[in-house]
Amino acid sequence: MIHNETLHTPQPGPPAETGRTNIVTVVTQPFTDQRPGTSGLRKKVAVFAQPRYLENFVQSVFDALPGWRGATLVLGGDGRYGNELALQVILKMAAANGIGRALVGRAGLLSTPAASCVIRRRDAAGGIILSASHNPGGPDGDFGIKVNLANGGPAPEKVTQAIYETSRTIRAYRALDAPDVPLDRLGQSRLGDMVVEVIDPVADYAALMERLFDFEAIRALLTSGRFRMRFDAMHAVTGPYAHELLERCLGAPAGTVLRGEPRTDFGGEPPDPNLAHAQALVAEMFGPDAPDFGAACDGDGDRNMILGRRFFVTPSDSLAVLAANAALVPGYRGRLVGVARSMPTSRALDRVAARLGIPCYETPTGWKYFGNLLDAGRITLCGEESFGTGSDHAREKDGLWAVLYWLNLLAARRASVEDVVRAHWRSYGRDFYTRHDYEGLNPVTAECLMKRLRRRLPHLSGQVFGAQRVRLADEFSYTDPVDGSVSPGQGPRIEFEDGARLVLRLSGTGTRGATLRVYLERFEPDPARQGEDVSIAVAALAQAAEAIAGMRARLGRKRPSVVT
Ligand code: G1P
Ligand code: ZN
Repeated sequence: MIHNETLHTPQPGPPAETGRTNIVTVVTQPFTDQRPGTSGLRKKVAVFAQPRYLENFVQSVFDALPGWRGATLVLGGDGRYGNELALQVILKMAAANGIGRALVGRAGLLSTPAASCVIRRRDAAGGIILSASHNPGGPDGDFGIKVNLANGGPAPEKVTQAIYETSRTIRAYRALDAPDVPLDRLGQSRLGDMVVEVIDPVADYAALMERLFDFEAIRALLTSGRFRMRFDAMHAVTGPYAHELLERCLGAPAGTVLRGEPRTDFGGEPPDPNLAHAQALVAEMFGPDAPDFGAACDGDGDRNMILGRRFFVTPSDSLAVLAANAALVPGYRGRLVGVARSMPTSRALDRVAARLGIPCYETPTGWKYFGNLLDAGRITLCGEESFGTGSDHAREKDGLWAVLYWLNLLAARRASVEDVVRAHWRSYGRDFYTRHDYEGLNPVTAECLMKRLRRRLPHLSGQVFGAQRVRLADEFSYTDPVDGSVSPGQGPRIEFEDGARLVLRLSGTGTRGATLRVYLERFEPDPARQGEDVSIAVAALAQAAEAIAGMRARLGRKRPSVVT
């Protein structure tokens, strides 16, 4: 895809059949590695650049979703290297596969949550989002393709499985032989029988945000002269959204948005909103004369990091704080029916749900598992420890939404970020939380570690590590309460008698080797002990993780590659 010639000179060999004059059917052979992971098909650009690689996958999507014929599709991406070229390929294939109408974000841009909102608002049958999320961009970086359905959410496993099965037997793909569609101007054009409408990527989304949040209160806060904020768009897709919403609509001064210009290589940094990659923002927020509020979003705009002045809000805590303060936010006041978190996310949310008297569901890692609960009206807010929070306004996690929610609650509470979080801990207790990632592992070695751990699980209960005794050790298996589908093998979890917990799982989004994630959490109800440094608070737990899973011995790693 990323090479123009694969588009205009279909390879290999001559067309197998030619239907309508300008639809070409191109013979192809399957690739064996097109199984979508936690969040779509994500690979190195070099993998996607192989002739027919993108085309095979896209044809598999159209073949697996016959209901898309004649319907409206939403298309866009995070603007990374390959975004526009891939969109042109997809548009021509969509036209040849009978799609009725394609709504494309101007310049090929649409954040993941905005795509979800547009699908819902415009009654589309689904969408294709081009993104590898927070992974690096550029020619040596990653590329990805995600498929969403009519509810605006990621395709569930049975659909991604069907796409994968199709990709294993694919024999041909169809594309229209036509010139590229100009994507820089709003308006309609035709591609064969398909209508292409280039839409403003921000408008629908901004209108929805205005309905959910108290824009007047936020505007008053941002223009008061007493409150300063910074938003780091990381040269990724949220730049245009943040300029429009924060600076233009809500009156924050120019310069509030940092790195607001989308770039195909995200300026050379991974667009990953964490303490390691949002360095300039972090330096400012932890420096002298720090602003009151800092935030960043990832490549495709679904993740968020929230910072106060010299204060980092752990994503699990952020989710709990949002739930606990719903009464302050117009779109959520009095309407929290239930909440959900991914299994490795800390249990801070459960404590809020218990007090509110609403259910809290525990789902496997990955946003797609929230879809059924949201569609069935069982939950209103949900989130993951991996910097993801969202609600029933969309079917994707939503970075800027979380930023606006925080601004709304800060405006209502007239307190600092740190004060809000510390008051939350005093009231509910603190869940110390940290995640250790071991990246770039040999996949076989990583699998071996997990296999050995799984074998040990049934024997762990009652064993003592340091001062902690294991209360329960099992592997998380999820039964979806809405459709009864079962997702086994979602990661071993080890709970200790003092309420601390360890979770281990292999990443499903990496593109280089395997990544082991070790999640550590410990509950501290005593306010006098809540000020401890996280790494100290979980040190004994980290030792227990080492004793149980043996990262040093089995992976040859003395320490994790990333700690968040
Ligand atoms: C990671 C996160 C997960 C998130 C996903 C997509 O998946 O852990 O919470 O939903 O990215 O953003 P993983 O690599 O762990 O499979
Ligand atoms: Zn993302």
